[in-house]
Formats: sequence, C-alpha cells, structure tokens
Amino acid sequence: MKEDTKTSVHIEPRDIHFDLGHVTQRHWLGGDAVGTAVMNALSLTFPDGEKLFMDAVRHFRSKVSGKLAEDVRQFLAQEAMHSREHHALNSLLDKDHYPVDEILAHVRERIGFTRSRGPYAMLLSTIALEHFTAILADRHLAQPDLLIAADPTIKRLWRWHAVEETEHKAVAFDVFLAVTKHWSPTKRYLLRTWSMAYITWQFSRNITNHATRLLIADGSSEVQARRAVRRFLWGTPGLFRRVWRTYFSWYRPNFHPWDHDNSAQLYLWRAQLASSES
Ligand SMILES: [Fe+2]
Ligand SMILES: [Fe+2]
Repeated sequence: MKEDTKTSVHIEPRDIHFDLGHVTQRHWLGGDAVGTAVMNALSLTFPDGEKLFMDAVRHFRSKVSGKLAEDVRQFLAQEAMHSREHHALNSLLDKDHYPVDEILAHVRERIGFTRSRGPYAMLLSTIALEHFTAILADRHLAQPDLLIAADPTIKRLWRWHAVEETEHKAVAFDVFLAVTKHWSPTKRYLLRTWSMAYITWQFSRNITNHATRLLIADGSSEVQARRAVRRFLWGTPGLFRRVWRTYFSWYRPNFHPWDHDNSAQLYLWRAQLASSES
C-alpha cells in the first residue's frame, strides 16, 4: 500500500478571487434551471464542508512529517480558499427566492453530527468526501461539457477547484494511513468502507433534496423537481453516473487515491486553467 501522496505531484494553492459582480442571471448555467440547482446544491455544501475537512486534518497535523506535513499545509491553504470562493458563489443566490438558510442549516446540522463523533469520525468522513470531490473533479476536467454554457468566471471557479482537488486528493487519505498505522488492516478496511457507504447515502440524498428544494422555489412541483434532478445526476448529463465506476475502487482492500493516476492529465488541466480568462 502506498503510504505517501504521489511524490511527483506538487500541490499549489492559487489565491484567486473570482469577481462575480457581473453575474445577474439566476440560472448561471446557460439558463439551465436544473443544472444550476444541482451545482448550487453542491456549492452550498462546500464552505462548511471544507472547514470540516480542514479541522479533521489539522487535528492530526502534528502526527505527520516530511513531504506529507508540507502537503497538509498546502491542503489547508487550498481548502480555505475553496471555502471562501464558494461562499462568494453562494452569495449570488437570492435568499428571498431560495431557501438558502434552511439548506445551510441542514448542511451544518449534518456536519455538527460528524463533529460530535470526534476526530477519527471527522477524518473518516473527510477521506470519503475527498474521494467524491476527486472523482467528480476528474470527470469534470476530462469531460468539461457539463458546464460548457456556464458563465465563464463561474466555469473557471469550478475548474480551479477541480484542479486543486486533484492535486491534493490523497492528502487526507495519507494522513489517515499514517495515524491508523497501529490499527489492524481489517479495522481500517471496515471503518473506511462503512464510512463511505454512510457518506454515499447522505451525500447523494442531500444533494438531491437540496437541488429539489431550489427547483421548487423556481416554480416546479416537487415531483417534477425531483425527477429532473435525478435525471441530471443519473441520466443525462449524469453527474454521478459518470463517476460510478471509479467510485467503487474505494472498496478494494488496498485502495489508494493515486491508483487512478491522472497526474499526466493534471499537467494539461493546470495549463488550461492558467490560460483561461479570468
Ligand atoms: Fe476543496
Ligand atoms: Fe479537497
């Protein structure tokens, strides 16, 4: 089993402030209400979710050294900036029109539950959710059609986030490997797979419910909204359907995030990010 983040991958926090002041279109994904609702539902989980990831990794920071300690530093810097920029993106949502506060309260309630279970539970949730962000980022960068019609600045924000999630995709996982060295392989395996099963249920349910609520605010009936969100996630374009195969690699006993080695493509994606318009 690999015990360290891929040594050839440099993690580079890019302190970019995305100026979203010009965005007046409620459905910033090219007028697509369903796609915008799903992406907004995802974005609404990030500010508090990424703070959880940071606190989980920060708790064990003193237990790692060498390149992993340096990677943890860069991971914390990247997640702090993602949290900040998604907060800015979320501020575009009109609170008089959308139930933003209720959705955020639900996100916080779920995160509060995880926090109440202690640092190891927080780290287990973090590595599971980092697997989700890594596989969604990989598909988004490899098949950028999903946001092709989006406002260019918002599109760049998602690309920036996806590149950095790819860079640091194994950091929390390697911290987990380091701080659970004394656990039996069976205990490690059962806890991380049980945790993933639970997170999968929660994450897919919450994104579906939150996007449905956003669409209901736009005037859809609950049945229409839920059907449209499910189609977007599992049918066409299939945000979740596209990543299902990579998702299951988690359940292999010796899984490591860099088993899916997209480091060569990462060079291209970084160049595309650097050359894309701000
Ligand atoms: Fe992030
Ligand atoms: Fe992350």
